[in-house]
Amino acid sequence: MMNNIILIGMMGSGKSTIAKALRVKLAYDVFDTDDAIEKKTGNTISEIFKAKGEVYFRQLENTMCKGLGLHNNIISTGGGIILNSENVKLLKEKGPIIYLSGTIDTLLNRLINETENRPLISKNELQQQLTNILNNRKELYENAADIIVKIDDKDIDTISNEIIMNLREIGYKF
Ligand code: S3P
Repeated sequence: MMNNIILIGMMGSGKSTIAKALRVKLAYDVFDTDDAIEKKTGNTISEIFKAKGEVYFRQLENTMCKGLGLHNNIISTGGGIILNSENVKLLKEKGPIIYLSGTIDTLLNRLINETENRPLISKNELQQQLTNILNNRKELYENAADIIVKIDDKDIDTISNEIIMNLREIGYKF
């Protein structure tokens, strides 16, 4: 198994922020699948969804997973990456998968002013949208995960330290 660390979880679970915190603590690099897709296509996630639809975006995500040849990276994934079981299999080969798990309330608070460039959510229907999405995905996140870290009421430092502690417990070599 390669020694990357993979972060999965809902929009608003803090994958990008935690990836940056872990980068500092572990002196790893960060690879963000959404950023990579934007860079590769020259379009924002919203633009891709608008012009070509979600199915096309999911194909880009899958191609991205197939091409991942990383080492010593924190891989921060788009929230829907686990919808394709092949992606999960490919990511598992890259390193342990950490699920950042939060309640709808936590996600709602974090996303209320962050719905832009997130085509699956909108400010006025946020609670219902998040509830639906999490209901559909909860099991997929849990099944994909080697480690589940609860994020509710915790700061970035606490969450990243918990991740490191859990990785040690499963024998991960830093
Ligand atoms: C999505 C999450 C987004 C982005 C796209 C779809 C999802 O990434 O990939 O808008 O399906 O949950 P973040 O989880 O980084 O917001």
